[in-house]
Amino acid sequence: MHFFAFQTTPSIVFSAGASGKIGELASERGCGKVAFVTDSIVLDLGIAAAALDSLKKGGVDVWVCSRVVPDPPAQMVLDAVEEARAERVDGVVAVGGGSTMDTAKLIAVLASSDQKLDDIYGIGKVKGGRLPLILAPTTAGTGSEATPISVITTGADEKKGVVSPQLLPDVAVLDPELTLGLPSEITSATGVDAMVHAIEAYTTKLKKNPISDCLAKQALSYLGSSIRTACSEPGNQKARANMLLGSLLAGMAFANAPTAGVHALALPLGARFHVPHGLSNALLLPHMMEYNLPAVEEQYTELAPIAFDDLDIRDGLSPGRAMIDRFVKLREELGMKTKLSEVGVALEDTEMLAEDAMKQERLLVNNPREIDYESALTVYRRAL
Ligand SMILES: NC(=O)c1ccc[n+]([C@@H]2O[C@H](COP(=O)([O-])OP(=O)(O)OC[C@H]3O[C@@H](n4cnc5c(N)ncnc54)[C@H](O)[C@@H]3O)[C@@H](O)[C@H]2O)c1
Ligand SMILES: [Fe+2]
Repeated sequence: MHFFAFQTTPSIVFSAGASGKIGELASERGCGKVAFVTDSIVLDLGIAAAALDSLKKGGVDVWVCSRVVPDPPAQMVLDAVEEARAERVDGVVAVGGGSTMDTAKLIAVLASSDQKLDDIYGIGKVKGGRLPLILAPTTAGTGSEATPISVITTGADEKKGVVSPQLLPDVAVLDPELTLGLPSEITSATGVDAMVHAIEAYTTKLKKNPISDCLAKQALSYLGSSIRTACSEPGNQKARANMLLGSLLAGMAFANAPTAGVHALALPLGARFHVPHGLSNALLLPHMMEYNLPAVEEQYTELAPIAFDDLDIRDGLSPGRAMIDRFVKLREELGMKTKLSEVGVALEDTEMLAEDAMKQERLLVNNPREIDYESALTVYRRAL
């Protein structure tokens, strides 16, 4: 018997218009004043309006913290924690993408604790509790609403993770309507990120488990069948709902069967070159899959027809290889950038990137095939 542990967000609400219930949910959890964490784009687009309205109607005071920027820098998080303390909030609500949700998680933990941010990077370092926390994603996505993870950019252009069970929220509120206006470029990048979460969870080396396996397969099915429609018909409610559900399921999966090589090599691209997280993954995915193929051919064979119903399996082509080719084609269909050179990476940068990737020990250990400096360098160079 293969033993495992599995944890997830205890309460999940999934419906069109669900963000209008956030006031009620916060009030039920005894919140009198919440930090409402978002970013200026989401706020200006009015995506957070229903949630803000519902808090007002529920009698919950709000301190709006809209300072979040992509790939949240540590100093931004620390400033937000300081202000949250001064505002005496007793709960945290986030409406936004992964950057917003990751920031909100740390506000909820640090505003009520003596621990320093520097002391909680790594696995299981958070001590004690946190403020009540409600997360509503507006991208589909990181799945952060169902992971015990927060990814922060440190002063040294490095991305570090805080991974502790306290970072799972009390409630995840999934409202596909919040994603209807997501531009195609962000839909494709965040959607591929979610597909990578599912693939890496299914092929992870150390904590592969049957619950994550089911979730990863179902996630890939939702995501693979809807990503093209969500990009070409942004207002398609069914495609948007499938993407949000797929990203949630993938998040639940990789929270317990962690991501690996693609993410380990993608994080330095975000930290050094500010390439959006999903695009970083998409640029590396086929090359890392190619590298991993000898170790996980059987698993790729299982996933290939789930992710794509139009695989081109010509004579002698294995389903795993066909899936890699299909991802290459998918990036083109979605109009995504396909080479690292298109995001400003040059050959002479690859050694620095490979050195940075070697620091992502928490992710590298999960890769089905060992990655050393030389192999990381090779993957970056193939992706140029
Ligand atoms: N916690 C986790 O488990 C986890 C997992 C994967 C990635 N991450 C982290 O999450 C971050 C990436 O999050 P992301 O990909 O969701 O992007 P993001 O939160 O950085 O947002 C990207 C951009 O999309 C905009 N945006 C968000 N929702 C929108 C909407 N509905 N309409 C229009 N614009 C919208 C934002 O304003 C921002 O400019 C990275 O820092 C990454 O490292 C965390
Ligand atoms: Fe990711």
